[in-house]
Amino acid sequence: MNQPGPERPAERPDRPSPSAEVTITPCENGPLLVRGPVELRSQAGEVIEARRDPVALCRCGRSAIKPFCDGTHKVANFRAASGPSRDPLRPDVDAADESPRR
Ligand code: FES
Repeated sequence: MNQPGPERPAERPDRPSPSAEVTITPCENGPLLVRGPVELRSQAGEVIEARRDPVALCRCGRSAIKPFCDGTHKVANFRAASGPSRDPLRPDVDAADESPRR
């Protein structure tokens, strides 16, 4: 006898499996690296084709190909921690040991 189970969303072969692992790594002084099967969409819901794996998303705001990183963060001398900064007014100081970053 079949028991009614919890409702499951319809399978969508065009979407990544929800069980697949996705990680997002903020690179020190650089982009967010997204690894794993993700679907990137605009606010309007349009799919943005990610041509690489991992996908590097700009977090410095200077890329000419947003939302992707184009390496401009290096020229712009963008500074940000890989992890949370203890002092938001000093984002160039590593929260782990309080030493200035390179
Ligand atoms: S993080 Fe690389 S261009 Fe912005």
